[in-house]
Amino acid sequence: MNFQITSEQEYQAAYNKSVDQPEEFWNDIASNFHWREKWHTTLKWNFETPDVRWFDGAKLNITENCLDRHLEQRGNKIALIWEPNDPKERALRYTYRELYQNVNKMANILKNMGVKKGDRVCIYLPMIPELSFTVLACARIGAIHSVVFAGFSANSVADRINDSQCTVVVTSDGLNRGAKQIPVKSVVDEALEHCPSVEKVLVVDRLGWPVNIHTGRDFWYHEELKTVSDQCEPTIVEAEDPLFILYTSGSTGKPKGVVHSTAGYMVYAGYSFANVFQYKESDIYWCTADIGWITGHTYILYGPLLQGATSVMFEGVPTYPDPGRFWQVIDKHSVNIFYTAPTAIRSLMASGVDHVLAYSLHTLKTLGSVGEPINEEAWHWYHTHVGKGKCPVVDTWWQTETGGIMISALSGISELKPAHAGLPLPGIQPILVDGEGNEIQGNDVEGYLCIKFPWPSMIRTTYGDHERCRINYFATYKNLYFTGDGARREANGMYRIIGRVDDVINVSGHRFGTAEIENAINQNKKVIESAVIGYPHDIKGQGIYAYVILGDLEANNNNQTRDEIIESVVEHIGRIAKPDKIQFVSGLPKTRSGKIMRRILRKVAEGELSSLGDTSTLLDPTIVDEIIAGRLT
Ligand code: PRX
Repeated sequence: MNFQITSEQEYQAAYNKSVDQPEEFWNDIASNFHWREKWHTTLKWNFETPDVRWFDGAKLNITENCLDRHLEQRGNKIALIWEPNDPKERALRYTYRELYQNVNKMANILKNMGVKKGDRVCIYLPMIPELSFTVLACARIGAIHSVVFAGFSANSVADRINDSQCTVVVTSDGLNRGAKQIPVKSVVDEALEHCPSVEKVLVVDRLGWPVNIHTGRDFWYHEELKTVSDQCEPTIVEAEDPLFILYTSGSTGKPKGVVHSTAGYMVYAGYSFANVFQYKESDIYWCTADIGWITGHTYILYGPLLQGATSVMFEGVPTYPDPGRFWQVIDKHSVNIFYTAPTAIRSLMASGVDHVLAYSLHTLKTLGSVGEPINEEAWHWYHTHVGKGKCPVVDTWWQTETGGIMISALSGISELKPAHAGLPLPGIQPILVDGEGNEIQGNDVEGYLCIKFPWPSMIRTTYGDHERCRINYFATYKNLYFTGDGARREANGMYRIIGRVDDVINVSGHRFGTAEIENAINQNKKVIESAVIGYPHDIKGQGIYAYVILGDLEANNNNQTRDEIIESVVEHIGRIAKPDKIQFVSGLPKTRSGKIMRRILRKVAEGELSSLGDTSTLLDPTIVDEIIAGRLT
């Protein structure tokens, strides 16, 4: 690994080079990877169309970089430690050689099921080793994986499968979640009633449950395993061939399929992992995210495996069997680098510090945070009680669309400031702009966060709808990638992320469009109209507050109606998007042109009643008094 920055001076030098000579900068980093053929053009870009190409001409397979090239030196090194939901169940350890064999077997199974290069495979699996095998197996054969978080509903699964026309689904009978066992295959069965593109389904037996097997369509993984070899030649792909699609919510319409390409994503995943966490060869690394989200893609699988690291994959939840589970697992596996989300920290904080103090945690060197702004209280608790005051906390800002960490301290190298993501990684050029897109110069300023130069792992398109990609990210401000976040740049140049400035809410680090939740609520026949906003929530960061107009006024305040509305959301999106508060109202604050004044709804939900602003121009100003009177606290 010749690209690890080891001091502040090196950071500065690398940063300057990345701006002055970006192509040379990335050529050097990319030369640390294994290529079947080298690129002839490092970068071609145009943010208008948009069209961004990295390492054109190169040929590679990312799994050769994650697996094959480690076999000689690290064949017997543990690649993956799988920690089950139930602490009494045995943890599983896979060496690089064993992981390689399992990936090859899965790749051969997928091939036997007819999967070819460029085909889309939907992976709807819980956090079990087979999820890792399947993701990498797709990459092995040049298929495009689309992992769908196993908490999404049948409707969401169907939408995602149909959008990208997946031909194969890989799933399991059910999943463990703390004390609960939850069906999974039956969700797929329901989804597939509306998915004509799907030809085959592979089912992993996790719980020993009986499932419906549609003859000719559905196959058991353990049966197929018996028929395949553990060798599978990697399919060699072009640099810009898509590696995966990952659906994420935006402010309008249905979730969009963010498309990442192979070479650029690989280079950035390996580079950012090594630098942010300052990974060293013998480190045990644990990221608690689910592989259903981008964090799991880049920092459980690709980033660590590209560096030959040992990565822990956890099936369970932080509070099962008790709120000491994370800390118990850290001691059990001697974890050195721990990467989690502020929402998890806040919920464990609420359970009391005794759960942490019961464990030694002496192996920890670096702590990471991701997904939402980390408040100072949570930062200090994490730093003091988990890190014992000696582990740097890296607050990593990035997005599904950026593919990897963009703004963050480098552990042990950069200055830390609680609640500040810090400085950009070398290669990343953030700027702040005002409402007109003019760059805001200098420090101690606030604005909309944009990126002005391409980086290798950036979004290439939104699947099947390139125009949507252009409008969402590249049309707001000319020649800039717009993140959707607002940020401050402090006097010392550090960035502090303020949060989303669009109609996207971030609940426990998960993104939802307000329109998406409103659509789900409106599926309930009693509902005439709804407006959803995010409000500050002690544990989740943001909670979901829904203002709902019912057709039948008698149903107001009726708990049953509330439950039915929640059920609609669970059915259309999944249990992760359940509204926390539902207030029935007779109308919504609208302008004369019919636009909902969300700002007013937000202020009411936050209890900031003195700063509602001028409401006299509303179509019906009295509605605001009614909403205030019925406010849920
Ligand atoms: O608002 C920012 C917030 O999460 C959004 C991206 O969400 P998603 O694509 O689901 O990816 C989450 C994991 C990378 C961003 O637009 N966000 C993410 N990390 C941080 C953050 N906000 C503040 N600080 C962070 N460290």
